[in-house]
Amino acid sequence: MPESAEHPAYPVGLRLSGRRVVVIGGGQVAQRRLPALVAAGAEVTLVSPSATPSVEAMAETGEIGWTRRRYEEGDLAEAWYVLVATGDPEANARASAEAERSRIWCVRSDDAEAATAWTPATGRSEGVTVAVLTGRDPRRSAAVRDAIVEGLRDGSIAAPHVRAKAPSVALVGGGPGDPDLITVRGRRLLAEADVVIADRLGPRDLLDELPPHVEVIDAAKIPYGRFMAQEAINNALVEHAKAGKAVVRLKGGDPYVFGRGMEEAQALAEAGIPCTVVPGISSSISVPSAVGIPVTHRGVAHEFTVVSGHVAPDDPRSLVDWQSLARLRGTLVVLMGVDKIGAIAEALVTHGKDPATRVALVQEGTTAAQRRVDATLATVAETVRAEEVRPPAVIVIGDVVGVGVPPLS
Ligand SMILES: C[S@@+](CC[C@H](N)C(=O)[O-])C[C@H]1O[C@@H](n2cnc3c(N)ncnc32)[C@H](O)[C@@H]1O
Repeated sequence: MPESAEHPAYPVGLRLSGRRVVVIGGGQVAQRRLPALVAAGAEVTLVSPSATPSVEAMAETGEIGWTRRRYEEGDLAEAWYVLVATGDPEANARASAEAERSRIWCVRSDDAEAATAWTPATGRSEGVTVAVLTGRDPRRSAAVRDAIVEGLRDGSIAAPHVRAKAPSVALVGGGPGDPDLITVRGRRLLAEADVVIADRLGPRDLLDELPPHVEVIDAAKIPYGRFMAQEAINNALVEHAKAGKAVVRLKGGDPYVFGRGMEEAQALAEAGIPCTVVPGISSSISVPSAVGIPVTHRGVAHEFTVVSGHVAPDDPRSLVDWQSLARLRGTLVVLMGVDKIGAIAEALVTHGKDPATRVALVQEGTTAAQRRVDATLATVAETVRAEEVRPPAVIVIGDVVGVGVPPLS
């Protein structure tokens, strides 16, 4: 007999790897359930005269077997688990009766009361599987599941690993500044940190949310004595990790875009300390986007180039080929270029770029202080002075500056 509604379901995790599972019916229910069955390693056979295009694609690629006809008695032979989900209640009842006789756990999409098993709302976050059953209220199950998975991801549900205190460091790209623009993984690692070494750029608001026991260190204020500033930061990362702390190095944008992330990763590797690198949303794309400028646009720019403007074009230390850049038709994005923008604009014009080429400077993009100033290559040096544009700013040069629509605020 099916389980009585008065008794709660008994939760269990089925290990289906290499085991035969039969799915009867190839419609929307199968389409939703099949990926998880395949991911669990089950040997799935679909029995159905037709299937949705996605289910068909799974059969074509060999992820599932497909018996292309209606259900017949005996189809469940050797199965460990069955999902009955056709649009024909009579076929569903016959298949479910066969499952009952053969003692195979059976999920029914049309009649939960007649089923011997229920599919929970499931979700996963970093090795944790969450499965929620709320009787016959699938929306509530999904809402509870979403709340738990979201909480695990953003760290608001504290579920720390029982860590062996092996030293480790995470280099986390924090995005351009808006605290919502850090990745889910970055936010979770931040929530698990004992020590956070943070840059001036990036989502500094998130630091206020950290619990009081977390030591927050401003990277710019680490004393460096006989070392270079970067070496002092590397040493601090190594020391805190060796003391058994979970260390997060929170950086603006992406750690590997003008972020010296690899220098830190190399220093950690030399010290034998494992390091995780979490990519971040780089300001080079997200800051123009925050003011409605796309770095590419069909028919306008088919390429974008991101360069550092921290040294002037005529400086022997510059590794940027301004002459070649002046010949490109696409978008040029300059980071760290506010101080040198006059010399940069002059070099581009000298090498052939139209002085009327549009320029946008976006200061403190994605933060409450964001502002955009527009100019051309001919006017930008004077505009920056007159408007008192200050770093950090992303400078966008090219026709895309004129195509955007203002973002909703
Ligand atoms: C050292 S680079 C770091 C870039 C960072 N790793 C990234 O991927 O965005 C710093 C430069 O990035 C740009 N930048 C970073 N965040 C910014 C923001 N919120 N608004 C404007 N420019 C930003 C500025 O050009 C700044 O001078």
